[in-house]
Amino acid sequence: MLQNLRKLQLSEVQRQGMRAAGQFNAQLMDYIRGFIQPGITTGEIDRLVHEYTISHKHTPATLGYLGYSKSCCTSVNDVICHGIPGPYALKDGDIINVDITSIVDGWHGDQSETFLIGSVSDKARAVTQCAFDAMHRAIAALTPGCTVSVIGENVVAEADKYGFTVVREYVGHGLGRRFHQYPNVPHFPDRKSRQDHLLPGMCFTVEPMINAGARFTKPDTTDNWTVRTRDGSLSAQFEHTILMTENGPEILTTCANGPKIGHRF
Ligand code: MF3
Ligand code: CO
Ligand code: CO
Repeated sequence: MLQNLRKLQLSEVQRQGMRAAGQFNAQLMDYIRGFIQPGITTGEIDRLVHEYTISHKHTPATLGYLGYSKSCCTSVNDVICHGIPGPYALKDGDIINVDITSIVDGWHGDQSETFLIGSVSDKARAVTQCAFDAMHRAIAALTPGCTVSVIGENVVAEADKYGFTVVREYVGHGLGRRFHQYPNVPHFPDRKSRQDHLLPGMCFTVEPMINAGARFTKPDTTDNWTVRTRDGSLSAQFEHTILMTENGPEILTTCANGPKIGHRF
């Protein structure tokens, strides 16, 4: 068990590779931030992501990944994750999660943010706040060598404060030279996550998906990607890529202009 995890511990040179990937991805998130306004289509957001990545000579990780055909995911309102960019134009009152993953010199940076479009409902604001606070609470609770379940314990505790729920079918993940790798990072504590440890040198995501209603999911049977809440309730998500160091967690995808821990939406 520990033997498998030890293989994931990156050297200092490898960690620099992950830092560079995270920084580029965050810079890209800051670039698109200014465009996310009423009227822009999710397809236009994707084009901006694609062109920025290509013009910097990097690679959008989702493009062609398991047959996915876009350079980011755009998940609006009741879409939990993996929304496919297309003709939908954002309108006042929407919430949208934009999830971007880049490959920089073979290393992955993966992050997402939920954006509020114009004036949104109290419920939309609250579920967004909850997902943001849950992510930061979980990250702040991490210590070198802690169990993966620390993340789930903290996310569930934050969701419970609001009476909101935590999605179980989609989870965080290890990443590095591969997009999705061991360990699985569920946002609720389970048997496996109580056994897996986050050792110095390991990289992984924390990306809680919080539903305002029930936790259950409904994958779209037509496009086979879009995942909605089963009850049609709103869902929000934030994601950061984390490097565990000898001194604690280091967030690799911090934006210059993004919301910081403690932010009120
Ligand atoms: N970026 C997502 C994650 O956080 C994965 C998207 S895979 C795709 O893990 F194929 F749907 F794009
Ligand atoms: Co991820
Ligand atoms: Co992601």
